Amino acid sequence: MQQAGGGWQVVGASRVPRARLDAPIETKLHAPGPRAEWVQRPGLVEYLAGAAARLILVDAPAGFGKTTLVAQWRRSPAEARPFAWVSLDRGDDDPGRLWWHVVCALQRACPQFRSAEILAALRGPAPEIADTALPLLVNELAALASPVVIVLDDYHVITERGCHEQVGFLLTHLPASAQIVLVTRADPPLPLASLRAAGQLAEIRAPQLRFTVADATALVRIVSAAQLSEPDLADLVERAEGWPAGVYLAALSLRGHPSPGAQQQPTRELRTGRLYHTGHRARGTLPYLVLLRAGVCLPPVLPRAR
Ligand SMILES: Nc1ncnc2c1ncn2[C@@H]1O[C@H](COP(=O)(O)OP(=O)(O)OP(=O)(O)O)[C@@H](O)[C@H]1O
Ligand SMILES: [Mg+2]
Repeated sequence: MQQAGGGWQVVGASRVPRARLDAPIETKLHAPGPRAEWVQRPGLVEYLAGAAARLILVDAPAGFGKTTLVAQWRRSPAEARPFAWVSLDRGDDDPGRLWWHVVCALQRACPQFRSAEILAALRGPAPEIADTALPLLVNELAALASPVVIVLDDYHVITERGCHEQVGFLLTHLPASAQIVLVTRADPPLPLASLRAAGQLAEIRAPQLRFTVADATALVRIVSAAQLSEPDLADLVERAEGWPAGVYLAALSLRGHPSPGAQQQPTRELRTGRLYHTGHRARGTLPYLVLLRAGVCLPPVLPRAR
């Protein structure tokens, strides 16, 4: 339910302020910057950079490294296109705001993108989206001299049927100069089967995003400088089920414990779900992860898994 002309809209069970379409929050329009502890994923990045499909779906539960991977792809030397990035939130579950943010992101990514007419169609109490804004958007994308990647991160916050239908319309009419990336925790209600059948869908899902032992080894080394034995690392990955956020938390808990295997029996402790070092419990990381994944105890750094 929404109220025209500003005020409030009801999204799910809560009320969120409906901002006027004046100034976007700039941080929503930029991909996360590189971080020293990023484990590079060249195989996945190469796949993404080489995918010619109209839609790229990066779809996995919370903390699986979806946003990180797309941010790594954006910065990779294998990719030359600019990225128009929107980090969606529940306030964007509204057609007017959704497309307004997409257009603002395109302005920032492609200075030659002409947005004035589209923005005019999106303003006002009854935005003309299907008839005016979207056809104009398609035409402006087609007029771009060089291609662009449009990323909608956290697309799972979108529940409005109209928004999905409009994204479907854009996908149907998308010019070859543009590619859409939906980063989401759940399959969107879009015609994925027909896109797949037409060779217009590239997908990355949890199985591809799970950390391998080599990934975990690199992350533990970067984050904590601890030296775990190979069986302990394999055990860690198995217990965390390759969940990148979990491996990261485990690596953090090892900070200041350079060689846990040297003085205690970490393998046994890892197997019982505890990390020890010289008699001090480093933190009950693995049971903590289990609680996290069950949604029992979520720290502010991690969103609740859906
Ligand atoms: N390639 C990586 N290198 C190092 N750490 C990573 C990597 N990928 C993920 N992580 C760790 O996992 C955490 C979650 O990653 P990310 O935010 O990318 O997950 P997500 O799948 O986008 O989650 P959400 O659905 O909540 O947005 C990161 O903050 C980081 O600690
Ligand atoms: Mg994310």
